[in-house]
Amino acid sequence: MRYDKCVIFDLDGTLTRSEQGIWNSVRYVAEQLHLPVPDAPTLRKFIGPPLDYSFQTWMGMTPEQADEATRIYRARYQEVGLFENRVYPGIRRLLRGLKAQGCWVGVATGKPQGPSERIIEHFGLAPFVDRIVGPTVKMGAEKDALIRKALPGEYGEAWMVGDRKFDVEGGRAVGIRTLGVGYGYGSEEELRAAGCDAYAATVQDVIDLFCPEYKADGAFLSMEGLDGSGKTTQMGLLTEALDCWGFEVVTSREPGGCKVAEAIRGVVLSRENVGMTDVTEALLYAAARAQHVREVIRPAIAAGKVLLCDRFVDSSVAYQGGGRELGVQWVLDINTPAVDGTLPLATVYLDIGHRESLRRRAAATELDRLEMEGDSFHARTEAAYRELIARDPQRFIVVDATRSPETIGQEIADRVLARLMEAGL
Ligand code: TYD
Repeated sequence: MRYDKCVIFDLDGTLTRSEQGIWNSVRYVAEQLHLPVPDAPTLRKFIGPPLDYSFQTWMGMTPEQADEATRIYRARYQEVGLFENRVYPGIRRLLRGLKAQGCWVGVATGKPQGPSERIIEHFGLAPFVDRIVGPTVKMGAEKDALIRKALPGEYGEAWMVGDRKFDVEGGRAVGIRTLGVGYGYGSEEELRAAGCDAYAATVQDVIDLFCPEYKADGAFLSMEGLDGSGKTTQMGLLTEALDCWGFEVVTSREPGGCKVAEAIRGVVLSRENVGMTDVTEALLYAAARAQHVREVIRPAIAAGKVLLCDRFVDSSVAYQGGGRELGVQWVLDINTPAVDGTLPLATVYLDIGHRESLRRRAAATELDRLEMEGDSFHARTEAAYRELIARDPQRFIVVDATRSPETIGQEIADRVLARLMEAGL
């Protein structure tokens, strides 16, 4: 099959940044060999040159010590370091845009073939990449040979995109166009001196060059749970995981998230407003939401971002519908014009049960007006959450939130990422 347009990417410094894994592995070597841990500027020099050279030059090792160090480094890097990697923000949007145009996408990297495939698979980029080529026992690391192999049999316009002069030189040797990117490990001077046809300082510049018309839809995610379920911690961990995968994440919260809604938040949560009627409270939450949906949530989704919201309409249904006994359906009804069809693709429910919620709240000192409610309130709130989950099992990701934060965070990340990928993101 002939491809009218092909783009071949370098991996490190172009699609992903790998310095954390490299630095952590060098630190590990130093600890294992009881040597001083190199400082940050020294660690930075390890990106690029061969390892035994770096160990000898920057850590004063003999060739024998450097061999041993390289062995220790590789063992750790293959198990752990490989995944201490990040996809540059916007890369997913770029790759989706290229695939939407029917473009061939290849990867030609100096990192060995096996680990390169594992990274691309691990970070969920495999659906966007047609071929990955890295050095193998049979094949050397010459960039032009790697690039040639990453191209399809027949093609029209083809580009090599990379952050170092080797990428530009390799692309030129193959006779295709070259784009130097300035957000990786090389510099504009290096790339221009190597003769790149075009230069892009940011991932957005690459998108503007290759797929300026592409409008990527983003996604809306929410996180729910009873008070004390660990939502703040898990919001942070999920944001970090999404960021590592190259999603452009925006976080927000309800009630609040924008000026008008934050002002309403102040009113509903203030301990002074004990006289507020339940209906007033429910309408205020819905009013805040109406503003937040239009001012924050929809624009973020339209811009291709992943909007992760700390609580959404389910909280109203659970707290006001269940807790305040206004009824699940009544709360859904008053929220219909507020939400106006904008519902999360997935909602994480941190499951702790109302007894655990009570136990955790009892340990906290500063409680807001809703947190001060008694246990039967939270029992009803939990029951309404369960009803929502039963009504919409596809949307909810229910996780046992009584385990360690890391274990919970890992499960959430895996399940949310799977859901985003199912949705083609
Ligand atoms: P939250 O900001 O999650 O509080 P915290 O970070 O202290 O856990 O939520 C504040 C309170 O608002 C919480 O008790 C739940 C309540 N709430 C509702 O009752 N209805 C709603 O629609 C929303 C969004 C929140």
